[in-house]
Amino acid sequence: MIKIAPSILSADFANLAESVKKVGSADLIHVDIMDGHFVPNITIGLPVVNSLKQSTCIPLDVHLMIEKPDRYIQAFAEAGSSIITVHVEASHHLHRTIKAIRDARCLSGVALCPATPVVMIEHVIDMVDLVLIMTVNPGFGGQSFIPEMVPKIKKVKEMIQKTGKDIALEVDGGINDTTAAVAVKAGANVLVSGSHIFKSDVPDEKIQHLRRICASVF
Ligand code: DX5
Ligand code: ZN
Repeated sequence: MIKIAPSILSADFANLAESVKKVGSADLIHVDIMDGHFVPNITIGLPVVNSLKQSTCIPLDVHLMIEKPDRYIQAFAEAGSSIITVHVEASHHLHRTIKAIRDARCLSGVALCPATPVVMIEHVIDMVDLVLIMTVNPGFGGQSFIPEMVPKIKKVKEMIQKTGKDIALEVDGGINDTTAAVAVKAGANVLVSGSHIFKSDVPDEKIQHLRRICASVF
């Protein structure tokens, strides 16, 4: 089954609880944490994750776009994250960081920026629950899907199949009705979508429509 994870980066930050209510049929709530170092933008941190956890039962899919994420794993776990995803490019000791996520009893994810080759996760893929392929350069919502990422999604799908494990393949950036179908065809099974969902007056209908499109791919 394809999972839809609306990214609150494009929601109204002054009314987050309301925004989350508007996407009640979502499988996950994608929360983008940016530190102004790993990416040029700054967003939200631990207190907001903690408040979101109180306001929704939907699991929080926390995407850490921060340098040296190992410093904050325990805190994000305690704040209520269900999945914690770290960037290959941001962690000096990725194996240790993934282990810390698992030890904190969260599902672990590893993310790759568009220019990062898939070989970077070869020796840790067995340890993770999710691989996140960035289909835009991280930092901002509302960018266009990079089509060169399609072969990369296919490659990671093959890597996952070789493990024989149930590892999710998430895509993030520029996902709309058209690119969702392309990504799912290539092997993605978790779709993050920010502006497409939250810039709409009917966010939950956008989710339903994405589901129908994904179902028609098979
Ligand atoms: C970008 C973030 C994304 C972003 C996607 O760095 O990781 O989650 O919210 O936004 P859209 O769907 O608008 O490209
Ligand atoms: Zn994200």
